[in-house]
Amino acid sequence: MKRIGILTAGGDTPALNATIHGAVTRANELRIEVVGLIKGYNSLFNPHVPHVLLNPLFQTIPELDPTLGGTIIGASRDYMRPDDYETLNAFVERFGKLKIEGLICIGGDGTLNGMQPLSERLPCVLAPKTIDNDLGLNYRNEADEWRQKPGPEPGGFRYERGPARTVFDLEQMINYVTPGYATAVYVSASGILRIRTTAESHRRIAVVEVMGRHSGYIALGSMYGQPDMVLVPECPLDVDALVERVKEVYELQKNVVIVCGEGVVDQQGNVLGAEKASTDPAGNKILSGAAEALRELLIKRIGDDYFKSRRRGGSAKEAIFTRKIGHTQRGGRPILFDRFYAAQLGGKAVEMLAEGTNNAAATLQWNGRRGFHVSSFDGNGFRDRWGLIHARTMHPSFYDPQLMRPSRVGIEYLLNIFNRAIGHDDVEYIRQKLFHSGNLSEPYHSVNTDVAKRIRYLD
Ligand code: F6P
Repeated sequence: MKRIGILTAGGDTPALNATIHGAVTRANELRIEVVGLIKGYNSLFNPHVPHVLLNPLFQTIPELDPTLGGTIIGASRDYMRPDDYETLNAFVERFGKLKIEGLICIGGDGTLNGMQPLSERLPCVLAPKTIDNDLGLNYRNEADEWRQKPGPEPGGFRYERGPARTVFDLEQMINYVTPGYATAVYVSASGILRIRTTAESHRRIAVVEVMGRHSGYIALGSMYGQPDMVLVPECPLDVDALVERVKEVYELQKNVVIVCGEGVVDQQGNVLGAEKASTDPAGNKILSGAAEALRELLIKRIGDDYFKSRRRGGSAKEAIFTRKIGHTQRGGRPILFDRFYAAQLGGKAVEMLAEGTNNAAATLQWNGRRGFHVSSFDGNGFRDRWGLIHARTMHPSFYDPQLMRPSRVGIEYLLNIFNRAIGHDDVEYIRQKLFHSGNLSEPYHSVNTDVAKRIRYLD
């Protein structure tokens, strides 16, 4: 293989450049050229296919810095339909013109779904990424548990999980953790620690919303910021239990911090916030407003008198506030864990293509004997009977619904990732860069400006 393509699709993460860097480094060793396709699958829809050679003369371009968050080749949520043969054939023709013999797609479940029809036309390998940590399987045969049911639209379908018949074991997880997750947790946990002290001073109840769609991994990891309770989408909300627990904690310490995953659901399984459709072929929705909905609920259930009688604020509205960690979770410098394993997975994806693998994902596995190590898993193994790849949800054994905190298994899961997740250089970076005098006088120089000078087009 002499030349491969690489693209980053879906929502970005802080570790994408690290994955690209790992891939390009390995490609340099194997004397393979790497062409970065601009803005994910979007570049392929354009007949001129904007692209950039990431290793001219097998030397990595200086703009590709593994410590820089985001992706220097841009990302989008554009995907092709599997039955749009005309578009797919146009893609193949464009790959031919670019002399690309294989493709690395850096992405999550949406990207892997999008890669399926493409892999019937060109060798493709997925290098995983997502802050949501929802690309993978809790165990090997998990995809078989999905069931198809008639959907709300005429002739449409919805998918539901059947009962699990497998004894869960952390060592059997396929893709234990995805690059981007550790940094997202680092940002959320830090934010929660900061919200705590202001809630303490002002006798307030904070509801902090974190990302993750329908998977509660980020919410679970946010426990490192020591919130009083964590609400995850996998466990329907028990309002009575929540109100009782909130009052109990408030009585004791005059402040409460609640973390909620953006996809938390009520007892009927409906999301508390609003849902908007996205372009993602995995059917992923854009979620918003879970924390606000929870606040409304708490205001109604606890009431003004409760706060007035305790002389802690004039009303429930004043005392209960919400904050979203938001896109800060997805941006900025990746922490050591993400950088290191993202690079390894990028390198592994190149090796897989070079060895002739097609439609597979590089994965990060964990076991007690070897710790973390890279491996691979067949793309078809992620698909249900109908060919669809679903986002992984957090295994129920990770969470204790009574305590509203991680369970023993959940704690063990997190410890394996976060015990050594931050490097000395991560800390040194803050010391040297945050209050650097130049930040005040020099305008921000976006890497996009430099990469734009290298972008080439097909005629
Ligand atoms: O999938 C990653 C993710 O950050 C989700 O956690 C979140 O719901 C979504 O993307 C937000 O998407 P956007 O950046 O398009 O608002």
